[in-house]
Amino acid sequence: SEYSLALIPGDGIGVDVVAAALVPLEAVADKHGFSVRHTSFDWSCARYLETGAMMPDDGLEQLSSHDAVLLGAVGWPAQVPDSVSLHGLLLPIRKGFDQYVNMRPHLLLPGITGPLRKSEFDILVIRENTEGEYSGAGGRVHQGTQNEVAVETAIFTRAAVERILRYGFEQARSRSGRLASVTKSNAQKHTMVFWDDVTDELAAEYPDVTVTRYHIDAIAARFVTHPETLDVVVASNLFGDILSDIGAAIQGGLGFAASANINPDGGFPSMFEPVHGSAPDIAGQGIANPIATIWSVSQMLQHLGEQAAAADLLRALGTVTATPARLTPDCGGTGTTDTVAAQVAAAL
Ligand code: NAI
Ligand code: MG
Repeated sequence: SEYSLALIPGDGIGVDVVAAALVPLEAVADKHGFSVRHTSFDWSCARYLETGAMMPDDGLEQLSSHDAVLLGAVGWPAQVPDSVSLHGLLLPIRKGFDQYVNMRPHLLLPGITGPLRKSEFDILVIRENTEGEYSGAGGRVHQGTQNEVAVETAIFTRAAVERILRYGFEQARSRSGRLASVTKSNAQKHTMVFWDDVTDELAAEYPDVTVTRYHIDAIAARFVTHPETLDVVVASNLFGDILSDIGAAIQGGLGFAASANINPDGGFPSMFEPVHGSAPDIAGQGIANPIATIWSVSQMLQHLGEQAAAADLLRALGTVTATPARLTPDCGGTGTTDTVAAQVAAAL
């Protein structure tokens, strides 16, 4: 079969890591008997400075005919405010395509130790990607006076809570059968108690899945002290955001953190991207770590139904990371973006 892929390299190292990730992608496609046709879009801060928009008005329409989107990173804070680049490109795609699952795998690849003494670390964080604490509802009154009040309202709808929890149960079922549901329902007595209620309702439908409830503070500590007791972790927008940054740190840093913004219903394309940004401090030097992006490509193949190719690509990544001296400088190695990508392709 042939897949059509929309590429948005974006800014800074986004351009380097997307170009590099295409090399192992082509190798794995050849090996597993499918092909990938890609179209590149120059949507970025550079485009904004030229035209006044991060992407054209019909941007979503242009993407919608593709099977998936691979994004590098957007942002060039020296010239374009981050709120402009984020709200002009990334957020409209996530929201417009109803990519309500943000899936972030955190595990230690061979050869990578990370900051913990534990060697067993394999956690899948599933973060609600559309509402909750990031709904934007609220405001400020009496600004600048001693009576000033700011309110930020977290919005949780049954439809959104149910679908993200259901996704978590399904993932747990396909892995260890263990699901951790994250709240702070002792302190937040409306939204989080509601989240617990929906969790209990769904648990009755999934008798084969063992659900454990954790409070966000306790599970944050548990990521560090007892990660081997966790497998699939489902959380709200804010809590999932925080947990997956802890996960990224433990797995060796931003250069390893992959993510998938998934529209499980399949009505729109899903988007795959490394968690890191455009890294202006190392842009243009050819030394950005491409592993997070290649890993995101593996997530994309999984989503497209190419399970064997997805697993093969992750295995190939592991054979390269097993010798950290070959990796990029952020991992203490002497490799470049392109040499690492070429080695992953060769390992296929
Ligand atoms: P950043 O992730 O770009 O960089 C943070 C630090 O990590 C830097 O020292 C950088 O060199 C290093 N780093 C990141 N990725 C790396 C890689 N693959 N290999 C080696 N080192 C790597 O975060 P920062 O500096 O806060 O943001 C820079 C720009 O990127 C901003 O405009 C920000 O808004 C944007 N950004 C975009 C994201 C996206 O497109 N999804 C996500 C995060 C930030
Ligand atoms: Mg974050």
